[in-house]
Amino acid sequence: MRNRLGVIKWRIRGISTNIQCPVQGHRARSTHAAVDSVFETVSPSIKSWEEVPGPKPLPLLGNTWRFVPYIGGYSVEHVDKVCLSLREKYGKCVKMAGLLGRPDMLFVFDAGEVERVFRGEDSAPHRPSMPSLNYYKHTLRKDFFGAEKDCAGVIAVHGDSWAAFRTKVSKVALSTSSAAQYTVPVAEVADAFSLDTRLGCFESVEGSESQRLIDAVHTFFISVGELELRAPWWRIYPTAMFRRYVAALDTILRQVASQFYINSVTLSHVERALKECQANGGSKSLLQDLVTAAGPRVAAVAALDLFLVGIDTTSNAVASTLYQLASRPHIQERLHDEITKVLQGRPLAPGDINQMPYLKACVKEVLRLFPVVIGNGRQLTKDTVICGYNIPRGIQVIFQHYVMGNSEEYFSDASEFRPERWIQRSTYKHHAFASLPFGFGKRMCLGRRFAELEMHVALCKIVQAFKMEYHHEPLDYHIHPMYTPNGPLRLKFIDR
Ligand code: HEM
Repeated sequence: MRNRLGVIKWRIRGISTNIQCPVQGHRARSTHAAVDSVFETVSPSIKSWEEVPGPKPLPLLGNTWRFVPYIGGYSVEHVDKVCLSLREKYGKCVKMAGLLGRPDMLFVFDAGEVERVFRGEDSAPHRPSMPSLNYYKHTLRKDFFGAEKDCAGVIAVHGDSWAAFRTKVSKVALSTSSAAQYTVPVAEVADAFSLDTRLGCFESVEGSESQRLIDAVHTFFISVGELELRAPWWRIYPTAMFRRYVAALDTILRQVASQFYINSVTLSHVERALKECQANGGSKSLLQDLVTAAGPRVAAVAALDLFLVGIDTTSNAVASTLYQLASRPHIQERLHDEITKVLQGRPLAPGDINQMPYLKACVKEVLRLFPVVIGNGRQLTKDTVICGYNIPRGIQVIFQHYVMGNSEEYFSDASEFRPERWIQRSTYKHHAFASLPFGFGKRMCLGRRFAELEMHVALCKIVQAFKMEYHHEPLDYHIHPMYTPNGPLRLKFIDR
């Protein structure tokens, strides 16, 4: 529906009122209704997709050349800085067209527009998936992921198949009470990032199952940014990077001869969880709950997705939080006071974290300033007006949370580390859609409750036991592949 400005029909679910797009000064249509509304016309002031500003693609090379090292000026490792400069140069809505092998993108730096797009989502929002993972799940290993209907997981899966699978797992994964049940086991492993059984990462020796899993997940993340942003040669032939990537995924989901991948790390945990579940007759863990609720196959596929995106995200978020706190003794003291007041010398129990608003606020503040996932997106399933431009279906819209979270427009004293802004909300300027580290809506992070629990518990235990200090040069952040401090974290831990 490109450029059809005369008669456009589009469906909006629950748009909030009086949203002003600062780029165009265009006031979005408003309705209080949460029901669908159909608008038949579009104001002639709405501009076309072709008019969206952005770096101009070159013939044949598109904009992909900009990511070529030493030549292009854009760096995969510093997409954060690229996005800041795009916002500065082109405004709140920037077109990134001509990245070879992938659909055109629209970068959105306008929190009001982010809210409007998120609130208008249909029942199966489409998050731009990594084509390389798509290819792995639906072509290379389709015998496994396609063996049962609607059993391919949630990552790189869309439409009805995504909705059916997500329904099976989200009740178990997203309930706050089910996450809180893990307070004690998570506390036991403190900063180990366990989904289910204690993977034994701290005791793990080189070559152990846990270490292989961690290495494989890390290789997956390191390769995926390169495969997605650089020229997609892997589509033509299996490059060395692509082979490493597939090997890493296969490590998590290993093929055994012509059979299904029954010896993969993931399935061995599922089998163990199932046995424990049968032996105990009770509901003891996320995987056991998944097995009970949806069967071992769904649990296995869900576990693959959860391992893939749950390990590096949370560990980097904790590392980043410790680094930020290490140079802020006054914040550590306030945290320590809060924790001591709630626990009064006893071990952490379910429900305690809810009595610790400052602890939660510290994590929110770190994720506002340094979100481990700097942007999140949707592939439009219908033509949509964003920032006054008619954006065609199929375009990937990327919400720039790192840039918005650091913007004075949405947060007062944006560059200051002020956890209290999340407690005294009326004192500080704040926009709920400018910092969404876990995404939003039906496709929001499935591991959010667990990630938060793990971060809160790890932080609580560390601050309770130690004072942290950092006595070296400040670290820059980079994308590796999460947004994380660049350098060894030489923190000093002093017993309290
Ligand atoms: C600090 C830690 C984490 C951050 C910042 C984070 C962030 C995100 C974001 C931004 C998304 C996209 C949401 C959207 O499209 O609206 C996402 C999706 C997802 N996350 Fe997380 N995540 C974290 C930890 C975890 C953990 C620990 C798990 C697993 C236990 C997990 C599992 C998932 C899954 C499965 C999805 C895809 C959901 C779907 O497409 O239906 N995440 N995460």
